[in-house]
Amino acid sequence: MSKVKVGVAGYGVIGTRVAAGVVLQEDMELVGVADVAPTLPVRSLKERGMPFPLFAAVPGSETELEEAGIPVAGSFEDLLGEVDIMLDAAPGGIGARNKEHYVRAGVKAVFQGGEAAGVADVFFHGTTNYEQGLGADYLKLTSCNTTGLIRAVHAIHQTVGIAKAFVTIIRRVADPGDTHRGLTNVLQVEAIPNHQVVDLMHIIPEIDATGMLIHTPVTHGHIITLSVTPKREMSVAGALEVFRAYPRIKVVRIADGFNSNSSLFQWARYLENPRADMYEIGLWEEMVGKSGDDLVFAINIPQESVTIPETIDAVRAAMEMQVTSDTAVAATDGYLGI
Ligand SMILES: NC(=O)c1ccc[n+]([C@@H]2O[C@H](COP(=O)([O-])OP(=O)(O)OC[C@H]3O[C@@H](n4cnc5c(N)ncnc54)[C@H](O)[C@@H]3O)[C@@H](O)[C@H]2O)c1
Repeated sequence: MSKVKVGVAGYGVIGTRVAAGVVLQEDMELVGVADVAPTLPVRSLKERGMPFPLFAAVPGSETELEEAGIPVAGSFEDLLGEVDIMLDAAPGGIGARNKEHYVRAGVKAVFQGGEAAGVADVFFHGTTNYEQGLGADYLKLTSCNTTGLIRAVHAIHQTVGIAKAFVTIIRRVADPGDTHRGLTNVLQVEAIPNHQVVDLMHIIPEIDATGMLIHTPVTHGHIITLSVTPKREMSVAGALEVFRAYPRIKVVRIADGFNSNSSLFQWARYLENPRADMYEIGLWEEMVGKSGDDLVFAINIPQESVTIPETIDAVRAAMEMQVTSDTAVAATDGYLGI
């Protein structure tokens, strides 16, 4: 089978990581990435000897890129002429504009969580509704929090069913490089429900969910606490067994030293994972408990890298490389080394 040809638009926090993820997939080829400016990640490509070509994402941007000494392989249209599918990781809202180019070029595309829902035909989550993405032209990923949240909720839901869920998002306010967000010292609250539970109900409509969101001035991972009402009795031990068996969930122990969001970030560094990325959500063994019949637990979301596996699943669905979630997820995770 010939390799599926993939391009990436936007070489930032997410674009660098989806590009690296695609390079690892032996049944895909990264044709190139497109960006508009000589940002640090773009400059790093030159320092690395251009491991893959860079294209100018908007007309005129090649001038600034070339003035910074970065070789430009061609225009956005040139890139679109060579690919089967684009992974759009441009800032939220720009993807919708890029879509006009994808439609004109007859190229499929996968958008990230910052785009409005209307940009895509399918709101996609690799382990939960893979089959809905089969053959689709335009797919949109859930956001980082929602991606991780759905993994944990779906693990229990597919085993005993969940009637309702209450979800509190303790949201990191910025990524590590985001100096433009300022030096903050405040906990900012939002009205209920948070968008993540609304999106959860879009992907798994039979669960009645609501929840709160609090922005916190940290950068290394969100924490989400959940209380879910199972339809059948589920013990703490039973829940842990289900979480351990579900893809992309890593059960960790406070007793072993995993006592914070940053301990998981540090763990990825000790493993020498590129960029300290973790594809799995962390789930604390000692934080799984019961409140009456409800199950309570907490998860860690490595926001910069958590959506990469599901993004690659979306390529597999759109290109019909595998027809079931299980086989697609196994292929993605095998190549990513999860
Ligand atoms: N940062 C996160 O933690 C995170 C997590 C999950 C999903 N997302 C989503 O991923 C998407 C990208 O976010 P990000 O954090 O990687 O942004 P980012 O700002 O780090 O990177 C965006 C890149 O796109 C480039 N760009 C600007 N205009 C462009 C255009 N017209 N065409 C192509 N590239 C263009 C920018 O120069 C920049 O390099 C958003 O939808 C966001 O909501 C972000």
